[in-house]
Amino acid sequence: MAHSDKETSVTSNSASHALILYYSNSGNTKRAAEAIQAQTGADMQALTFSPAYPKTYLRLGMVTQRQLKKNSRPKITNDLDLKLYQIIYLGFPTWFHRPPMFVNTFFETADIQGKVIVPFTTSASSQISESTPFLKDMSKTTGADVQTGFAANDLREITSYLKKHELIK
Ligand SMILES: Cc1cc2nc3c(=O)[nH]c(=O)nc-3n(C[C@H](O)[C@H](O)[C@H](O)COP(=O)(O)O)c2cc1C
Repeated sequence: MAHSDKETSVTSNSASHALILYYSNSGNTKRAAEAIQAQTGADMQALTFSPAYPKTYLRLGMVTQRQLKKNSRPKITNDLDLKLYQIIYLGFPTWFHRPPMFVNTFFETADIQGKVIVPFTTSASSQISESTPFLKDMSKTTGADVQTGFAANDLREITSYLKKHELIK
């Protein structure tokens, strides 16, 4: 049976107007999201899906490969209220050298017109540049300013990006 993805945590910092939205299956992207939150003071919310992603590597591989093949749009079950936010950090694991299919769902369903989206990814070795063409293509009609973003596999790359873009609180 699929595990429930009840990892959502929301904190608030009314000064920042930034939100970290992420999905993490095995914990790496969650740790990256927490590091970004510690440095920026942004609110944070874990994305949840129906059906939830399996937690075993083998089953996760099968499900995600099928989603990719079928060009699926996994259903996001969060009640996303993004009105308050100007900046959204969008975090995902790299799967098959590209963003997961739920990132398509996000761009097709979330109201992000006029917002700045900062993608970040964790991976075994893939850089954000592998995801960039996909992110560009899937977000082109959203009216959002989608940044290149960054790979967030260690604290040094996270801090370096946030410093460079003056995003540290
Ligand atoms: C189905 C699947 C596909 C993956 N594809 C890639 C990939 O193409 N490139 C890569 O560097 N890592 C790949 N990985 C490794 C994950 O991106 C990496 O472990 C990531 O940090 C997992 O994030 P999480 O712990 O937040 O779930 C893949 C992992 C899975 C389960």
